[in-house]
Amino acid sequence: MISNPIIDSMLNRKSIRHYTEAMPSEDVVETLVRAGQQAPFASQLGSLLLKRDQENNPFKAPLFFIVCVDSYKWERIMARRDWSMHGDDMLLMLLGMQDAALMAENMVIAAESLELGSCFLGGIPFHSEEIIKDFKLPPRVFPMVGLTIGYPSNDPPPRPRYPMEFVLFEDEYPQLDDELIQRSMDVMDEGYLAQDYYTKLKAMIPLEGDREETFDYDTYSWIEHICRKWGQELFPPNLLQQFERCGFDLVGKYKEEE
Ligand SMILES: Cc1cc2nc3c(=O)[nH]c(=O)nc-3n(C[C@H](O)[C@H](O)[C@H](O)COP(=O)(O)O)c2cc1C
Repeated sequence: MISNPIIDSMLNRKSIRHYTEAMPSEDVVETLVRAGQQAPFASQLGSLLLKRDQENNPFKAPLFFIVCVDSYKWERIMARRDWSMHGDDMLLMLLGMQDAALMAENMVIAAESLELGSCFLGGIPFHSEEIIKDFKLPPRVFPMVGLTIGYPSNDPPPRPRYPMEFVLFEDEYPQLDDELIQRSMDVMDEGYLAQDYYTKLKAMIPLEGDREETFDYDTYSWIEHICRKWGQELFPPNLLQQFERCGFDLVGKYKEEE
């Protein structure tokens, strides 16, 4: 494989959940945001909220960004040309999430290059009510994901990924045989166990219902974690309400078409 400073930095990246107290300079913040902005976009539908409140930020990170899908500011622009949104919020949200996610990942890569660490927080949409109040958000702004950034106070190894043959399917999606699936599961489980990842994170998801617990921190690893995430109710079942609270009607147009 080819190695160069950018590739090396990407391959060495890992989520950082422990930060020093050092506050990144204004110059650093500006650089992160400009790098984020320069990501490819469909419509520049991303906006960033920022809190520099280390005491209260997740993981006590000096910088806490909330990456939003922001149609409000775009609709303000449209209005100045006497246009209004045609009304497929589902499509708008899809493209907005693409924009916002690319922006966020550009910031992560920029952060790495400045020796900062970062970690995403995926549960942010479920806090839309507090975020709307706290940041005085207008309607049509959806808090998509959180992103903590700061100088790392630990240096964990990069985390494992599936083997490439389980990811790259050229020309045709293959018959996934059980052997490949098992190999991919083993790579992930063995890799996380070798790092004591869940033991250190204290992040074993409890079982719901009458399933009997057969794992402990010596055996609990990524596959079991992700099964428990997707196989049980991890988040409150009200995601559509979160979109609605932020002024997006994702299903209305499709209901009308039925
Ligand atoms: C959209 C998204 C949401 C995430 N949410 C959380 C979270 O809520 N809490 C957390 O500790 N890590 C979160 N992460 C970080 C993942 O756990 C992490 O990226 C994954 O375990 C792979 O590890 P790595 O980033 O160190 O390679 C999130 C990552 C992404 C991309």
